[in-house]
Amino acid sequence: MAQILPLTPANIRRAALALRAGELVAFPTETVYGLGADATSDQATAAIFAAKGRPSFNPLITHLPDLEAARRIVELSPQAERLGAQFWPGALSMVAKRREDCGLSRLVSAGLPTAAVRVPAHDGARDLLRAAGVPIAAPSANPSGAISPTSAAHVAAAFGDQIAIILDGGPCTLGLESTVIDMSTETPALLRAGGVTLEALEAALDMRLEVAQSDDVAPRSPGQMHSHYAPSRPLRMNARSANPGEALLGFGPAEDCAFNLSPSGDVRAAAANLFHALHLLDKPPWTGIAVMPVPKEGLGRAINDRLRRAAAIPASPLPRSQT
Ligand code: TXA
Ligand code: MG
Repeated sequence: MAQILPLTPANIRRAALALRAGELVAFPTETVYGLGADATSDQATAAIFAAKGRPSFNPLITHLPDLEAARRIVELSPQAERLGAQFWPGALSMVAKRREDCGLSRLVSAGLPTAAVRVPAHDGARDLLRAAGVPIAAPSANPSGAISPTSAAHVAAAFGDQIAIILDGGPCTLGLESTVIDMSTETPALLRAGGVTLEALEAALDMRLEVAQSDDVAPRSPGQMHSHYAPSRPLRMNARSANPGEALLGFGPAEDCAFNLSPSGDVRAAAANLFHALHLLDKPPWTGIAVMPVPKEGLGRAINDRLRRAAAIPASPLPRSQT
């Protein structure tokens, strides 16, 4: 069984040693809990794919303690430098060209010439990254396609018997994954809506951003498959009320909710509560989840993105060669 350890300096040192020894360590960030491994080790990163049941064509985000460390891994364009200076540490992952000498396992990039890099806005996470002294690949610590974890308990329920250490830093403050932006091409493109809003990125770059269509046959971001973040029960969006058996997941003033994401209608609070609520309601006696409308701008874009994928019917299983 995994050891669930409070985020103390001694435990951070212990977790850093485990990472350096090639083990998997789950750790908190401001967005969601990550399932970390030494990104320079083929064996350690392969263990992430195995534990998650993640298709090997879906690349991982590499976590670094600061912008300086990110520069050693990828080639940051002047625009990317600007985003790094403005939004890091924070909920932004930038896809950029791998440096020849970056040392990252090819598995991290799923064979692509690029890598996604992020500096998390979480002191404990950055302490761990510094102590580890190697770049850390970390997808969200959930089985591939399932609801993302925003607490150590969520991670333990999914991976308790597969990983060495879960660092417990309490609930994640932001609660939604980072925004993924492709800075490797001539025109930047938003690959995944997340904690940093499209509006903020457009203001920083002083341009309109292309938003990659996730349902493309060959998605620019391989992780943006249609069904994802999915509870095992059916989920329905833009509901006004629950059908028999359904849990009503509210937003704003509402009666008879099984859970309300934010009674006052605050999207920040709703983002922080979203995955917690989905974990909570994906249980008996409920047979489905009906979600009330959430505004579509700002952080609401990412919330609606996650809900749309959670509502999607899972695609038929992938051929074995791809998993
Ligand atoms: O907030 C987060 O980003 C969390 C925490 C732990 O940092 N991590 C996370 O990782 O959400 P994951 O693996 O669940 O999602 C990573 C996303 C996927 O959609 C993946 O396809 C995309 O980033 N991605 C990673 N590397 C890429 C690359 N080189 N090119 C395009 N997309 C990439
Ligand atoms: Mg994920």
